[in-house]
Amino acid sequence: MARCFVTRELPGPALDRLRARHQVDVWPERLPPPDDELRRRTAPAEGLLSLLTDRIDATLMEGSPRLRAIANYAVGYDNIDIGAATARGIAVGNTPDVLTDATADLTFALLLAAARKLPEAAASVTAGDWLTWDPARHLGYDVHGATLGIIGRGRIGQAVGRRAAGFDMTVLYTGRDGGTPLDELLARSDYISIHCPLTPATHHLIDAAALRRMRPSAILINTARGPIVDQAALLEALREGRIAGAALDVTDPEPPPAGDPLLSAPNLIVAPHIGSATHTAREQMATLAVDNLLAALDGEPMPHPVVAD
Ligand code: GLV
Ligand code: GLV
Repeated sequence: MARCFVTRELPGPALDRLRARHQVDVWPERLPPPDDELRRRTAPAEGLLSLLTDRIDATLMEGSPRLRAIANYAVGYDNIDIGAATARGIAVGNTPDVLTDATADLTFALLLAAARKLPEAAASVTAGDWLTWDPARHLGYDVHGATLGIIGRGRIGQAVGRRAAGFDMTVLYTGRDGGTPLDELLARSDYISIHCPLTPATHHLIDAAALRRMRPSAILINTARGPIVDQAALLEALREGRIAGAALDVTDPEPPPAGDPLLSAPNLIVAPHIGSATHTAREQMATLAVDNLLAALDGEPMPHPVVAD
């Protein structure tokens, strides 16, 4: 029996399998454990099940000498210092594949909602402003036949591309392995959707210069990680009407602080990081995270290990 710290209650029965084998401490609150609590509770643990809201750095690992396994409840793992974990022989795993389609679906939901101005149109009904069938209100942009630029040709990027085919879209990809050069993709696309991981190379990949390359009719969708977009530059571009809109499922930081001017930007939809938020995806993520932890605590390789770049 090993001691495990799980930084939040998870949906589905997966944690019961962990509890059946090990001594499990679950953080009970809605907000993440503050840094000192994270350190205190991880200190005696051999296994850690973390969320993307937990910063798992070298100091935390130093203070947890028995730690052997970190299972991140996410496909992204930019919250974990992978180099520090590898140096200490700590196995790290993630939850790929099971959230690919849910995230691609949400990406399309945001794309369609932004293109067809769905939130403001729906809000006008609630506000009592549906007076008649109106020839010239709530006009949006065509999705069918448009060009979609996908940044990141991983599982999620490709799943978004498959959906785009059903809308008769022309799909451009740019990724680590080539594809359409980013500048060309930005200039040619009506919709630009981000599906790359957050790394030093992709931090602020969409900066002021990138936004200037986009068409005035372009809509930016980000369901990957907030810091890939320079949010101050995006705010300016939206305010000046230099792009037609943006739909973000991720921001920097999360959540945006109260009064953040971003939240009052025109033509912007912000969702609270719900890409993988379906019952099925979140339960399967819990299954994978627990599988990872159980394997590593048994001295086996994790079935879904993070492969460091
Ligand atoms: C969610 O953002 C994830 O990385 O799983
Ligand atoms: C993540 O699952 C990706 O490879 O896109």
